[in-house]
This record gives sequence, structure tokens and C-alpha cells, in this order.
Amino acid sequence: MDHFDIRGGVMHAEGVNLDSLADAVGTPFYCYSSATIERHFQVFADAVAGLGDGDPLVAFAVKANPNLSVLATLARLGAGADVVSGGEMARALAAGVPANRIVFSGVGKQPHEMAAGIEAGILQFNVESEAEIGMLAAVAAAHDARVDIAIRVNPAVNPGTHAKISTGGQDSKFGIPIERAHAAFVMAAGHASLNPVGLAAHIGSQLTDLSPIESCITRLGELAQGLRGAGHGVSRIDVGGGLGVPYRADQPAPPLPSVYAEMVARATRGWDCRLIFEPGRMIVGNAGVMVAGVILVKQGTTKTFVVTDAGMNDLLRPSLYGAWHDIRALRPRGDTMVATVVGPVCESGDTFAEDRTIEAVGAGDRIAFMTAGAYGATMASTYNSRPLVPEVMVKGDAWSVVSERNQPAAMLALDARAPWL
Ligand code: LLP
Repeated sequence: MDHFDIRGGVMHAEGVNLDSLADAVGTPFYCYSSATIERHFQVFADAVAGLGDGDPLVAFAVKANPNLSVLATLARLGAGADVVSGGEMARALAAGVPANRIVFSGVGKQPHEMAAGIEAGILQFNVESEAEIGMLAAVAAAHDARVDIAIRVNPAVNPGTHAKISTGGQDSKFGIPIERAHAAFVMAAGHASLNPVGLAAHIGSQLTDLSPIESCITRLGELAQGLRGAGHGVSRIDVGGGLGVPYRADQPAPPLPSVYAEMVARATRGWDCRLIFEPGRMIVGNAGVMVAGVILVKQGTTKTFVVTDAGMNDLLRPSLYGAWHDIRALRPRGDTMVATVVGPVCESGDTFAEDRTIEAVGAGDRIAFMTAGAYGATMASTYNSRPLVPEVMVKGDAWSVVSERNQPAAMLALDARAPWL
């Protein structure tokens, strides 16, 4: 469910005509629908509302879309934030997410980031190694603080998703291997500056099958039971994010949040602790599109290339993961063409779609890459010295540029001539 549809022959985002918007801001750009973000958050939050101790925390995974206005939209609805860097934490705080709704994850937190989290008073750190327990204990002690932590467990579960976005397998860098997690919890409890309160896991992203998440949760439950049996308090369990979104109409849709919530309810029955969820893609994926202009159509030996003004630097997912984004014309004419849709970047991997049937377009037309709200703009770069792609948010008939396109002069200003040049 999203708010991008064709009205009067033109794609709209809520009440805003995207072709007119493209005239105003130029292409390429990302466009987010507030109504879709709000709806998806609410659907998820309502689905999990009664679970655990009845006070679950839905901590949006900021990495999926860290735009300040996206975070502020979610903060107003009561969202927390799952952050993995000092930069993400600063954004969440600036957007109005209360510190006590922020969870700090990540395998390589640096002492200055730990210090910033302690100073801000965040809810908890999800600690991912024995080495990190020692580091965080030292930073907390230097602050005369006692910080709440959860042990992030590597549950050795294969999530059955793309290898590059799979995090729960035995040989992944994430979490503490489950067989050492009990000992790690006890080790943390031995530090006066640490207060181990719970467990966490996240096994991967774009999950379309719930059974690996269910086995992961079951393993966390067994671990919690063992810890409680040994006299430790386990009051929070963070089950991560990972629920997939539909990218293609011709493939089965991932489970609905309500079905996911039923599974979590079943797997956590009787646990008596606060549950934390870290959804990212599910909240923002379908709430964003990337609009691009068609520069020209070029005939190869066997292929027809549609060359767009957006490149792999603006939307990396197809190049990096072979990911599929539906491509639609902003003004569909009713006929189709078979095209290989590429960007202007000087790499063969700068390909969005290979020999795909799309709505017919020509030079000067505009297209939308659908389901680009998650891991889109945030993974953009300035490769080929291309300006960072801007972001626009829409609410009803209103729109606002919520991240500017940086201009070549601004990019150049970050460089300096070495004194000998
Ligand atoms: N929590 C943790 C600890 C994570 O590492 C992630 C995602 C999430 C939550 C949110 O997962 P989600 O609900 O969004 O699936 N760039 C890739 C996705 C990388 C995901 C990394 N971790 C892509 O474009 O598909």
C-alpha cells in the first residue's frame, strides 16, 4: 500500500503531480510520501502493540532512511530509533526521538560514539563482542555511569535472503556466537559500569519467510530462560528488523505485519519482558520513489538502452545486489518497449534493468523507480563527481525539499590544494 498513483495521466505522490515537481526541483530526486510512512509505522506499531509486557518499543532502523524529515515524521508518531553510528544518533536526537527510545547497535562502535550515547542518555547499547564489553565498561566508568546493555547474539540461523544483507549466519561478523552469549552476559554483569538487561538479534533484511526469525526468537527465549535460571534479570528482548516488502508484483508478497506479529506473539508467549523491534525497510521502502529523466534512447547492437540522468551512485541497490525496482513512466502512453535501463556513470554495472518490458519512454520523458524509500538516498554517493541526489517530502498537496542537491562548487569546496601544488 502506497500513495503513488496515476491521476489525470500523470503519476502523483499523494496530491502532488510528480512531473510538475520534477520541473520545479530538477531530476533525479527522491520523493517520499508522509502518508505512506505514517501508515506503515502505525500498521506495524498497532500489530505489535500488546506484545511482551505490553509496552513494546518500535525503534526505526535509521540506516534505512536517515533523512531528518523522515525521522521527525516517525518521532511524532512515537517511534524510537535503532542507530549504528554517532551520526545516526545525532540525527535521531535532532529529529526529536527521545534519548530513552534510542538503541545503539553495530559491531564497531568507537569510544567517542559510546561516550556520546552515554551523555545523551540512550536506552541501551546492543553489544556485539566480548571486546566491546570491555571497551564500553571503560568508557561508562570514565563517565561515572552505569549503562543498560543487551547482548547481541549471533543465533546461527540462515535467514534465506541475499548474502550481502544476511547477518545471522554463523560466520557473519555480527553478534556474539550463541554458545558464548550466556558467558558474555555474566562477564558484563561483572562490570559495575554495565547493567545487562537483555538480549538482541537481527538475522537479515528483506526476509520473506518468517520461520528463520521464529527460530531465532525461540533461541533467544531459551537463552533468556537459562540466564534467569542462573539468577540474572532479562527484562528486554530486541528481535531486530528484517521484514521484507514487495518489490515486484509478480512475486509473492512478504508476510504482513499482522502475520509477523502473530508469529512473535506465539514465539514469545509468557516471556514477561519488553520487546524491541527494529524495522527499517518495512516502514519506508514503499514510501519513496526516485524520479529520473530520460536523457536519450540509444540503440546498441542487440539492445535498446534507455539512458537516465540517475546513476548507480543515486540508487545503488540494483548494481550492488542485483535488486529489482519497478520502473514506471510518469506519463504512461499505453504502449511498452523492451529496454535496458542504464545510468550515465562510467561502469557497466550502472544498470537498473536488463532487457525489461517497461512503459514506452523517449528522450525528455520521466520515469520513477518504485520502492526506493529504503536504502536509496542514504546509500548514494558522489561517484563520477555527480551531485548528491536531493530528497523531497510530500504531505497532501504540499511538498518540501528535505535534502538539497549539492552543487559541483560545493563539492569542490571540500577539497583543498596541498600546499606544494
Ligand atoms: N537492525 C539491525 C541491527 C540491522 O542491521 C538492520 C539492517 C535493521 C535493523 C533493519 O533491517 P530492515 O528492517 O530494514 O530489513 N542496504 C541493504 C539492506 C541492509 C540492511 C542492514 N541492516 C539493502 O539495500 O537491501
